[in-house]
Amino acid sequence: MDVLKGLPEATLLSDPEDLEAYLRDESHVRGTAPLAVVKPRGPAALRELVRLAKAEGFGLVPRGAGTGKAGGCLPTARTVVVDFSQWPGEIAVSPQDLCLYAPASAPLRDVKAAAEAHGLFYPPDPNSWESCALGGTLATNAGGPNACKYGMTRHWVLAVDVLLEDGEIHRFGISSVKANAGPALGQLFIGSEGIFGFIVGATLRLAPLPREHTTLLLPVKRWSDLLDLPGRLCGAGFLPSAFEFFDPAVLAELRAHGPEAARRLPGEALAILEFDERGCRSDAFLEGLLDLLGPVSEGLEVATDERQRQDIWAVRRMTSVFLKERHPKKVSEDIVVPRSRLREFFEGLERLGCPAVTYGHLGDGNLHVNLLAAGETEPGLLDTQLMGLFRLAVSLGGTLSGEHGIGLAKREAFLALGDPAHIQTLRSLKQALDPQGIFNPGKVI
Ligand code: MLT
Ligand code: ZN
Repeated sequence: MDVLKGLPEATLLSDPEDLEAYLRDESHVRGTAPLAVVKPRGPAALRELVRLAKAEGFGLVPRGAGTGKAGGCLPTARTVVVDFSQWPGEIAVSPQDLCLYAPASAPLRDVKAAAEAHGLFYPPDPNSWESCALGGTLATNAGGPNACKYGMTRHWVLAVDVLLEDGEIHRFGISSVKANAGPALGQLFIGSEGIFGFIVGATLRLAPLPREHTTLLLPVKRWSDLLDLPGRLCGAGFLPSAFEFFDPAVLAELRAHGPEAARRLPGEALAILEFDERGCRSDAFLEGLLDLLGPVSEGLEVATDERQRQDIWAVRRMTSVFLKERHPKKVSEDIVVPRSRLREFFEGLERLGCPAVTYGHLGDGNLHVNLLAAGETEPGLLDTQLMGLFRLAVSLGGTLSGEHGIGLAKREAFLALGDPAHIQTLRSLKQALDPQGIFNPGKVI
């Protein structure tokens, strides 16, 4: 693309071999060859890119580390990918304000480590936390096991710096949890997948770093006994910082083909629970907890040291990659239902009759339903199965994505099943903020 050649403060890639890497993320969908890839190193590059996009009629697609699960960063027809990996800026922690500033390019791992170096905690922990970039987690409102207690990325953002369609970067929000001068517009950009503008940096809220953890491996005699447990725990005043699970099919796969540590996993189904409040290692706390868990469990184990805790988490963290290696054509979904409806969801899933295995974040009802034979089924069957799954989640008061987003992968389903008023409002906002449709065209709506 000749018009991009004089772009200031930027690296330009246009060799087809270089562009190839941008056609994939961690979803099952593929992008369309982009016109070029630009790695901006300063605001002048973005200003000029926006001007050219409007003048020449091409779209701009934001990209962080490419670890997204819904194709939100994949190029569509006539687009230029804006790869933020060279975007400048340092992580700056402000312990007095319990916050930090970080550029979109900062690895999430570094953001979390910078907070911890000050005895502080940034809770969002998507499975890709060691390889993803902060910008992508903001654009997709990433979740993770800790969302069970701490909520999603959006709950930890005080302010965002956003590239808008005037080509300038604007700040929405301040470095304080209290900011009530009108609606919190910054929130509009979190989870927007870049359709209203691109987040280039953010001020993130921090909490004191939890110093105690109780981590339990909870095998159950009967899989269905797990399903009421999140609700019962919450009802009894226990809020786990994570409540993860493997259904019998995933557990059997792990046991038969997983790493050494997974081969010994007990139970018909299994949960991993973690608590991190002060006193969670005390006898009184554990006794109260075991009163609730004891009757459903068979051989419950409490991690006695950090090493054991990390071993338990290592098995959970590798499950997605493990299943992908075993079933390369699988499609991994991300529905959510209120935790009080979990039992109804699994009954409904059985009635649907599609071959699925499920694991994920039981504590907040966010379930990774994996259709293992998806890529091998006859054309159309996958879509039918997915729509059945999404409809089931929606019918129970849930939604089709708990943490991965809509992107390209779930756009059609979102348009078919989403609340019409919600979609119309998104379209009105898109028209107001990006009338020429240059920001991430073809995504979400
Ligand atoms: C996980 O929690 O392991 C991921 O969000 C699921 C996935 O990779 O599909
Ligand atoms: Zn997940």
